[in-house]
Amino acid sequence: MFVGIDLGTSAVKLLLMNESGKIEKIVSKEYPLYLPKPEWSEQDPNDWYVKTLEGIRELIQGFEERVKGIAVAGQMHGLVVLDKEDKVIRPAILWNDGRSKSQTDYLNNVVGKDNLSKYTANIAFAGFTAPKILWLKENEPQNFEKINKIMLPKDYIVYKLSGNFTTDYSDASGMLLLDVKSKKWSKEMLSICDINEKMLPKLYESYESVGALKTDIASELGIKQKVEVAAGASDNAAAAVGTGIIAGASCNISLGTSGTMFIPAYEFKVDPNNALHSFAHADGYYHLMACMLSAASCNKWWMEDILNTKDYAKEQQNFDKLGSNEVFFLPYLMGERSPHNDTKARAAFIGMSMNTKREDMTQAVMEGVLFGLRDSLEVAKKLGIGFERTTLCGGGAKSKLWRQMSADIMKLEVDLVETEEGPAYGAAILAGVACKEFESVESACKVLIKVKEHISVNKEAAKRYDEKYERFAKLYPALKGLFC
Ligand code: XUL
Repeated sequence: MFVGIDLGTSAVKLLLMNESGKIEKIVSKEYPLYLPKPEWSEQDPNDWYVKTLEGIRELIQGFEERVKGIAVAGQMHGLVVLDKEDKVIRPAILWNDGRSKSQTDYLNNVVGKDNLSKYTANIAFAGFTAPKILWLKENEPQNFEKINKIMLPKDYIVYKLSGNFTTDYSDASGMLLLDVKSKKWSKEMLSICDINEKMLPKLYESYESVGALKTDIASELGIKQKVEVAAGASDNAAAAVGTGIIAGASCNISLGTSGTMFIPAYEFKVDPNNALHSFAHADGYYHLMACMLSAASCNKWWMEDILNTKDYAKEQQNFDKLGSNEVFFLPYLMGERSPHNDTKARAAFIGMSMNTKREDMTQAVMEGVLFGLRDSLEVAKKLGIGFERTTLCGGGAKSKLWRQMSADIMKLEVDLVETEEGPAYGAAILAGVACKEFESVESACKVLIKVKEHISVNKEAAKRYDEKYERFAKLYPALKGLFC
């Protein structure tokens, strides 16, 4: 059996998949997210590890003898730094942290976007790892001096589990330190960040084994046999594998804490304006991706922090005709990455009147997230990238209403696959490939991934949403000057 782990921002999700792809068990463990200052977003790597180990123990109970492999998928771009004694130097700085605006501006404007794109295939975004390293150097020089190892969140778990300091190409792509095309660390970027290659993990394909589970951990878990630990992948690449979106397929949209649009490709491609990220995929090929920083988290914020309820289904009743809502919501609660690259952007409700009801605002939040993703879809279209269908995963995909809105607002036929656990299921598949249970990621996906439901575009609603989107697209440019 294979353990697939998704090291997320709100929780670690673990699942146990048998040799024929059936999920035997799912476990989830939450840990805190710290927002100590505006724009800061941090977590304690030790919380990740303690909860992951707790989760593995619970997950494999009764199956200890059958576990063959483990793979971890994780939240991308986070900066984890270790000293010479392998102690975590400071809390991890996460993917949705916006503190490194001035370092991001330095990289894009002084080093220059053209150079960055030449070195890495991408430009700088505040969430990426390289600007955070520069931030550390400027703001916490005593911590910067102590750096012996730099790693991504899931690589910290792989390091603790296997003792091997490794990463995979999909996750490494988001550091702005990897030359994505040649799959090598960029010497230029290392020099710009004042770090050396010894500080960086060894690179692997996501489906390769990096070694065995440490014997002390194995015996603590009641495991006697050798367990392979795969290199793993970024959560988005793993989610794409878990929904069957590998090279040659169309697109996967994930409505999780972040919202992503993931477009796989056999060939390496770069968006000339670098609005879409150009990254390696977990299947050995490449992909383009857009990421909005607050997707399902907008809904969670609106439901739980503002309306003070957890009854999402109740709040999603009584919606008037889709596409007829007069209220708009801008989903920039944590600033925005794709396509605006603006850490200062903020959320807003617009268009309320005395007739506006609670449900109009709830509907606006859900629509605003999808309009935000459509902004990135329009960028892809301008590049000549066309597709007519997408898979949908993440917490938001559990809402029937959000699924229909996704089809209508993006004008894409939506496929839902049997397994809803995108990244964790993708990780389990990678573990299976690392253990040679499957010949390749592609062949595993062909056998294991099945579409269970299909949502067609409602043409009438799509037409109304087209008009709404035109108005939505004017809101950010109009408000941009007010965000500071
Ligand atoms: C992708 C990104 C997010 C995180 C969320 O670039 O930053 O999707 O991976 O976990």
